[in-house]
Order: sequence, then C-alpha cells, then structure tokens
Amino acid sequence: MKKRRVVLLGATGSIGENTLRVLAAHRDRLELVGIAARSNWQRLAAIAKEFNVRHVGVFENGAYAAARASGAFVPGTALVGGVAGLVELAQLPQADVVLVAVVGTTGLEPALAALAAGKRLALASKEILVLAGKFVTASARAHGATILPVDSEHNAVFQCLEGHPGAGVRRILLTASGGAFRDWPEERLAEVTPADALKHPNWAMGPKITVDSATLANKGLELIELQWLFGLKPEQCGAVLHPQSIVHCLVEFHDGGMLAQLSPPSMTFPIQHALLHPERVKGAEPPLDLTRMVALEFRPVDERRFPLLRLARQAMAAGGVAPAVFNAGNEVAVTAFLAGQIPFLAISRVVEQTLALSDHFDPADLPAALSADAEARRIALAQLTNLNSKS
Ligand SMILES: NC(=O)c1ccc[n+]([C@@H]2O[C@H](COP(=O)([O-])OP(=O)(O)OC[C@H]3O[C@@H](n4cnc5c(N)ncnc54)[C@H](OP(=O)(O)O)[C@@H]3O)[C@@H](O)[C@H]2O)c1
Repeated sequence: MKKRRVVLLGATGSIGENTLRVLAAHRDRLELVGIAARSNWQRLAAIAKEFNVRHVGVFENGAYAAARASGAFVPGTALVGGVAGLVELAQLPQADVVLVAVVGTTGLEPALAALAAGKRLALASKEILVLAGKFVTASARAHGATILPVDSEHNAVFQCLEGHPGAGVRRILLTASGGAFRDWPEERLAEVTPADALKHPNWAMGPKITVDSATLANKGLELIELQWLFGLKPEQCGAVLHPQSIVHCLVEFHDGGMLAQLSPPSMTFPIQHALLHPERVKGAEPPLDLTRMVALEFRPVDERRFPLLRLARQAMAAGGVAPAVFNAGNEVAVTAFLAGQIPFLAISRVVEQTLALSDHFDPADLPAALSADAEARRIALAQLTNLNSKS
C-alpha cells in the first residue's frame, strides 16, 4: 500500500504532539515528510530524527539561524525559514496531506498554498477560517482540494454528514465542555488569573485555545468555522453545554432525526480520521467503554456568563469582516491577559469595543480581509492602552 505523506505545521504544539502519536501508531500507512514550528528547533530536531524527516521549517529568524548553526539536523536536511518556508513545505511535491496546526492566523498563506497545490488540507487552525473563510473555501473549490477538519467538533460534523445531502440539515449543535470556569460563581470571575484559566477540565491544549475555552470565545470561533466548512446560515449553527466532552456534535435533520458523534476527549481521534479518511483502522488510543460511562449531560449555554459567545454570534450575523474583527480583538486581548496586562473580564470588553469601533464591510478580496484584521488589531491594542490608563 502506498503511504500517505504528511507535512505537519505546528509540529511542536499540542495538536502537533497528538499528530505524532497517530503517525507513530500508523507507520505502515503514514509518513511524515515535513515539519515546522515557530522557534522550538530543538524539539523539531528530535522529531526529524525520530521520523526521519528531511524538510524542516523554523518561522522565527533568530531560531532559524540557531537551527542552521546547531548541527542538530542530519546533513542533507532542507531547513527553511519565515512564512516563505512554511509555504514551501505546504507545497512539497511529495506531500499528500498538509496538517496546519499553527496557533493564530500565520498558517493562512501556507493553507492557501496547500490548496492551490491540490493537497488535502487537514485544518486545526480555526482562526484561518474565521479570518478568511470565504477565500479559503473558494480556493478549495477552485482547485478541487479537500478540507478535512481536525477540530474535534467539526471533524464530528464531517463524519455525521457523510452521505447526507446538506439540504436535509435543519441545524447543527456543537458541544462545549464549559472550560475552566463552567462551575464557578459569576462573582469569582473578576479574580481569575492566567493560571486558573489554563486549567481545562477535559482537554490538554495550547495556552491560547485553553483561555478561549474558558471564555467560550473558542466556541464562538468554532460556530464561525462551522458556517464556512459546511455552508450553513448563522441561525443553523448552535452550541450546547456538555461537560463530559464525549459527544462532539449533534446534527439535526428536518425530519427530527439527530446524529451524534462520540469518541473519548483526545485529539488523536479526529486527527487520525482527517489523515486517513476514508480508511477506518484501529485508533492510536482505546475507544470509549460505554459500560464505564456515568452519564451524558446537556444543558443550555448561559451567554450572560460567557459574553464572548454572544459577541461571536453577533459578528457572525453581521457577516463581512466582523468575524475577523472578533478574532483579532480576541487574540490581542488574550495575549494581554496571559501577559498579566489586563484582567480576565476585560477580554470581552476589549472585543466588544473593537467590534463597535470597526467597519464591518464585505471584503472583496483577501488583501481587504487582511487589512481589516490589521486595523482591528490596532483598535484592540488602543483599547488595552485605554484600559491600563484608567486602572
Ligand atoms: N490543542 C487542541 O486540542 C486543539 C483543538 C482544536 C483546534 N486547535 C487549534 O490548533 C491550533 C494549534 O493549537 P495548539 O493547542 O496545538 O497550540 P500550541 O500548543 O500553542 O502549539 C502551537 C504550534 O504552532 C507553532 N507556531 C506558532 N506560531 C508559529 C509560526 N508563526 N510559524 C510556525 N509555527 C508556529 C508552535 O511552535 P513553537 O513550539 O516553536 O512555538 C507550535 O508548534 C490552534 O489554531 C488551535 O485553535 C487546537
């Protein structure tokens, strides 16, 4: 059997490490041919050695220079730097699948390059679709390329929709674990520290997405991602609280039938599906044991406690660049929160103000969407300065 060859952008992160577990479990089916990270070249060198990878990208200039000088990569390894290096990896002629798991929107250009080269795009970086869903999905259509979602909820939807015409779908509900503060009383949220926000009850993930899970901004980003991936109207996209993170989505059809997808709360399951689809073989981890399951609970999400979900839905309804503005404001605010510059409850205030002060036009092309993103970041940074001068 011909092995499927994989490029992994964001190899040193949480999705990256889970992908390596899947690759290690399926060496007979999958081969890693390219890897990249922002700066952690030491870990890249270890991965390159373990998986015999000869194409390596290091985004940051200083780290790239250090990697080149280190002698840690075997002779003959092609080391590339910057975003141009990520694009080169995404278009490697020998690659079949490009998994983009770079935090934030840096993966946009490489993702578009992979689609233009006709590769399968296994997409973890939801921010890319929030910023430029219109252009990414149009590029996939134009080049006959497939986008396989890696985000567990969207991967679940992909699985439930296989063989079902989209016209039959009434609405889709994504499940939300509720994050670190699901059971905290509202009055305690004012005191939340970055350390509190980084304790997720069910999932071990990178810091940005863990904070986004605590504010439910992550679910908001996922609703926008859902809309683009499956061509839905905003009112067809919803969320429901499900503390166990076992059911990942619920697809409701017009006739009242509902399909759900279940798997343990580990990213190796959707990653394996995205890499091997349509093949179904033994997973890298044991499946669910239904006889040991206590209960599966579902309850409505309280948008008053989680204003970022409400703001994401408003941005989605406004359309145009509003979702990109939401994402930009959130990225700036979360970075500031993690750096101890603003309190937890200020994250939603920064995003709300950024949305209020931005122009929500329909971008004619990608540069227009990118300039709206840059402008929103400037506005959000100015909000941080305002907040700090008031405190
Ligand atoms: N973690 C999850 O379970 C999960 C689930 C669904 C979706 N996602 C999405 O997947 C993406 C990655 O999340 P994560 O939790 O894996 O993040 P993470 O643990 O913080 O890892 C981020 C990865 O991206 C790399 N990176 C960051 N900036 C880069 C740049 N400019 N150029 C090249 N590489 C860069 C990092 O390299 P360094 O190590 O060198 O910094 C690291 O390998 C995010 O978009 C997230 O929303 C994650």
